[in-house]
Amino acid sequence: MPRSEPIKAVRGVRDLLPAELALWRVAETAAAETARKFGYEEIVTPIIEHAELIERVGEDTDAVAKELYRFEDRGGRRLALRPEATAGVVRAYFEGGLNQRAQPARLYLIGPMFRYDRPQKGRYRQFYQLDVEAIGGAGAALDAEVVELGVEWLREAGLRELRLELNSIGDDKCRPAFLERLQAYYRPLKAQLHPDCQRRLEVNPLRLLDCKVEQCQPFKVDAPRITDHLCDECAAHWSAVRRLLDAAGIEYLHNPHLVRGLDYYTRTVFEIYPEGSSGQQDALASGGRYDGLAAAEGWPSTPGVGFAGGFERVTELMAAGGEEIIARPAADVLVLPDGDLDVAAADVARICRAVRSVAVDYEPKSLRAKMRSADKAGARWVVLLTPDDASRRVAQLKEMASGEQSEVPWADLPARLA
Ligand code: HAM
Repeated sequence: MPRSEPIKAVRGVRDLLPAELALWRVAETAAAETARKFGYEEIVTPIIEHAELIERVGEDTDAVAKELYRFEDRGGRRLALRPEATAGVVRAYFEGGLNQRAQPARLYLIGPMFRYDRPQKGRYRQFYQLDVEAIGGAGAALDAEVVELGVEWLREAGLRELRLELNSIGDDKCRPAFLERLQAYYRPLKAQLHPDCQRRLEVNPLRLLDCKVEQCQPFKVDAPRITDHLCDECAAHWSAVRRLLDAAGIEYLHNPHLVRGLDYYTRTVFEIYPEGSSGQQDALASGGRYDGLAAAEGWPSTPGVGFAGGFERVTELMAAGGEEIIARPAADVLVLPDGDLDVAAADVARICRAVRSVAVDYEPKSLRAKMRSADKAGARWVVLLTPDDASRRVAQLKEMASGEQSEVPWADLPARLA
């Protein structure tokens, strides 16, 4: 690349500019407040993990097999940028001794995830999730609780038209027999499936059910449904979750083809979509129970359930729905020195900062030009400062909306701005 070319952002990542961040903060505040309202505590885990931890999430998972950012550090360790948070949160739960406290541990995390996916709208290589995990509880009430938390978060963010899809994918006890049943159904159709599904038929037959390719769709209709083949415990769990959601007044749709992209799920799986959309690509939030994950990571077997929602998708939908954010000015007050008055202007700004956000226009331009930019920036007040004002320790305070202007001693500025 010639030296003169400006260097642009990496493909598939995006900057969050100040204007976008207003909406982003609404979604983030709604996330943190909703999580706390349900008794979830914040946790922060590193962005880098041992690649092996992530690989154990599932070898046949796209997020791991094709999309993982793997690298070797200078010490020769095989590391990865986390593609999701659950594996790391479960690791931290044990390493940090949260398994020794009252159970379940209710945790939430907000942070960036990384997947080397094909970039498109709503799909980025660095994206942010709200991740919610309840670890150390096996009861169906916890499944319903995290679903309710997810729905409530999105509602708090201003999204009302939602569709919740729900399914159960059984456990180690009942799933193997179901997978054989599924293979027996699909084997005679193998030649008519697209190549990925032909491979899935042998290595991960459950994923046949969420294939999005047109040519495979007709076969799903008559495919066996896992909810018809659950063991007694899984069947009881499945009906308890639905009963709890009914009691909470949360509407859902049973989607027998919902199986999720990560391998660690057991029993409940769910996805939340904007109403009117279809396909996994548009899921705003998704999750489920993962009773086998802790053991897969090498820890004592421990049940857990959770979900994650993507901030990019949520804020894009908020913006599309006309969710209006009145853009706040960067500073309420702008100090406009007329001439070389840097020290005095900084003094005045420091005094005003006791009550308001304040910026100084230090640019070497005329007072008229400074007034124009103050207007453009949306400042509520300007504090005009001439050399004569400065020598008398006064300033001209102007309220932009009314145009009212008066001379105010510096010491009285906080009272006038409060
Ligand atoms: P996931 O379905 O892979 O699940 O991702 C959860 C959410 O993250 C999606 O519904 C979507 O909103 C967002 N998302 C995923 N990939 C991208 C992307 N490339 N660009 C933008 N947004 C994206 C998990 O990550 C599980 N860890 C959820 C979970 C927590 N299950 C149990 N606990």
